[in-house]
Formats: sequence, structure tokens, C-alpha cells
Amino acid sequence: MPAFPDGEPAPESGALPESARHGAAERPWSAYVHVPFCSVRCGYCDFNTYTARELGPGADRDQYANTLATEIELAGAVLAEFPERELDTVFFGGGTPTLLPAADLAAMLDALKQRFGLVPGAEVTTEANPDTLSDSYAAELAAAGFTRVSIGMQSADERVLSVLDRTHNPDNVATAIAAAKNAGLSCSLDLIYGTPGESHDSWRTSLQAAIALEPDHISAYALGIEEGTKMGADVRRGLLPDVDPDVQADRYEIADELLTSAGYPWYEVSNFARPGHECRHNIHYWRNSDWWGFGPGAHSHIGGVRWWNVKHPRAYAQLLATGVSPAHAREVLSDRARHEEHVMLGIRLREGIAIPMDARAEIDTLVGDGLIDATAAADGRAVLTLRGRLLADRVTYALLGI
Ligand SMILES: C[S@@+](CC[C@H](N)C(=O)[O-])C[C@H]1O[C@@H](n2cnc3c(N)ncnc32)[C@H](O)[C@@H]1O
Ligand code: SF4
Repeated sequence: MPAFPDGEPAPESGALPESARHGAAERPWSAYVHVPFCSVRCGYCDFNTYTARELGPGADRDQYANTLATEIELAGAVLAEFPERELDTVFFGGGTPTLLPAADLAAMLDALKQRFGLVPGAEVTTEANPDTLSDSYAAELAAAGFTRVSIGMQSADERVLSVLDRTHNPDNVATAIAAAKNAGLSCSLDLIYGTPGESHDSWRTSLQAAIALEPDHISAYALGIEEGTKMGADVRRGLLPDVDPDVQADRYEIADELLTSAGYPWYEVSNFARPGHECRHNIHYWRNSDWWGFGPGAHSHIGGVRWWNVKHPRAYAQLLATGVSPAHAREVLSDRARHEEHVMLGIRLREGIAIPMDARAEIDTLVGDGLIDATAAADGRAVLTLRGRLLADRVTYALLGI
């Protein structure tokens, strides 16, 4: 897990400044619930997750739902002036949320419903490891109000799964997706490309295997070699080759071609969906909407104020037990920083962004370089081409004049 920025101290009550509260009643908002447990840590993963069974009072798996409900109460008090503000989307991520009994996920969702309510037709997702989703588990999720599961398939190639240190049985992806569909849940699959040892053909096979399972949504992530992970150490010591950006670009193009022709066009650089099945929660992130991140290490954003919770589940539980906000620090964004975030996040969406006034001079060059779509630009919007998606950072810098 990368170090968090320093930020400024966050108040013990969790109170938000007037600038963040202004207009909040009219903005859609979401909840992210972090569940920081995994049975085994995958060698590439730097998420804030723990495999130990004993983490400390209030932090162990069997106490976690109760502890998290305390933060929901705190959020309820902070946002009490907006009683009508129901959640548009909820996303349980991890870690592996489905390592907990389904009843615990249901209890946390119920606490959110009781405190804030959900809009009619709210989207409620949980991430799931393929080995954890049985028929009865999926049925319990659906009965509790979950509408969607996002399953970590990663690859269909056993050699790639082994380099990724994945312990799941690849056959269980089909079992998990069948269980989810039988329960009436919408399904997404996560795939990773560019793993050492993967070939173009094995990536094609993974994509075809994912498509054959007929999910509603597929995420395709370029493998990131993260510092502090086992894979990062193996690459540094020369035991594994580093990722090759040219190979990753080729793999992205293969994904775009296969997924688009199978009826999953892109709607965000790494996300592809059947029309109407785009992940609303994801879209809120990229539009920089408001969300409260519950759980250790979770990040939140409300009206230009970002804050992040203490990382360790024990520290998190200790603060909440004494009635203190678990926020470690926060940052009140300047107008310029908010603009930069709007460009950096919004450009990743297929809808793109309105061309910023001060970036008009750059647009002809970006169109000429094949990075921005000419037709959309003529209508005043900056929308990435396929080449632009591969070079999204370059486009962002150009639009920001950096
Ligand atoms: C919290 S995990 C998903 C749920 C569950 N823990 C699992 O792995 O099956 C979220 C997703 O992030 C992606 N991910 C994690 N670390 C990554 C990395 N270093 N590079 C690319 N994708 C990564 C994986 O595709 C993973 O499915
Ligand atoms: S990829 Fe998923 S299962 Fe693996 S360590 Fe990360 S959160 Fe846990």
C-alpha cells in the first residue's frame, strides 16, 4: 500500500467544512465499504488487506461488521443536516468482502439503509473472490438487497494465475457466475493483462473465456508492479521481468477489439459493459461525485474535501470505540486542484469532458496526433480515441497545460 499523503489534521468529530456541505443535498452520493481481509495475499496486490486472523479488539473478522456500523453512525451524525439524501450506489470492496459471512455484509448494508436509505433502483455491488460465491451465499446477498457482484477472475491461464499467486480454482469462476445469475445478480469479471509469462494468445483465451461466461461487465486492468509487494521485490531482484508498456498497449488493443465485437464497448478506460450495465458507482468516481469511504484506509470525497482513514483495522476500531472519527487526515482542495481532478478523472470516461476554456489551443494538436476524437471536439468535448486511451496521461497533461 503506497504511503498516504500528509494532509491536514481532520477534526475528531468528523465534521465537514461549510465549503463541502454547500449544495450537498442536491448532489448524488455513494458509499464505499472496505473489508480488509483476504485468506492469502496475492503477490501483485498492494490493497489495504490482512490475512491474520487476530488483528485486535473490534478489528477481527467476527467483530468487523459491528465496528463498521459505528462509523456509519458517525457519518449519520456528520450528515444529519441532509436527512433526505439517499445513497445512489454502494460498493463493498477489499480485500475480499465475501470472506465474511453473507449475514455480515447484509448487516452493514442494513446499517447504511437504516441511516441514509437507498434511492429506488440503487446499485449495490460487492467484490467477490471466485472461491467464495456459492448458490446459498449469492441468494443471501440478493435477499439482503445486493444487485451486483464483481468477481476476481484475473485470467483463464493457470500459468498466469500461478505467477499472480492466485489460489482460486479457475473452474470456480463459472460456478460463481452461475450462482450469482441464479440469484438474479448482475455480474462483472475482473481481468489482468501483461503478467510475466502471458502471451498475446493466452490473453485472447482469457478474454474469450470471460466473454463465454456472459457477464454484464468486464474490467481489464494492466498489471501494475507495486512497491512493497512480493512481485515488486521479485522484479527488483531480476527474478521476474518488469512489465513492458508496448506489450501492455498491444494487449489493451486486443481487449478493446474482442470486447467491443462481443457487445462490451468501453465506457471507461479499463471498463467495458453491455449497454445499460455500466457500473454507476465507478462512473460516480470518475465524475468526482461525493462518496463516503467506510473502513480502515478508506478514502472519501465530499464537495472538494478528501479525507482518508487510518490504515490498520486495530487503530480504526480503537478510534471508533472512543467516539473519535477514524479519519487520519484530510485535504481541502483548491479550485485549481478540483479542476485538475475533474480533467484527470473525467477524461477517462467515454462521455469525456467539456473542453476546458484554457485548453482550446491544445485541442487541434491532440486531434492531429490522433488522441482526441475530432467529431466530439467539434462539439466542444474532449473524448479519447483508442490511441488516446493508451496515452491518457499525456492528454491530461496537455489539457492542463502541464
Ligand atoms: C480488491 S480486488 C477484487 C476482489 C478479490 N479480492 C479478488 O481479488 O478476487 C480488486 C481488483 O483489483 C485488481 N488489482 C489488484 N492489484 C492489481 C495490480 N497490481 N495490477 C492490476 N490490477 C490489480 C484485480 O483485478 C482485483 O480483482
Ligand atoms: S487481489 Fe484480491 S484476493 Fe488478492 S490480495 Fe488483493 S484483495 Fe486479496
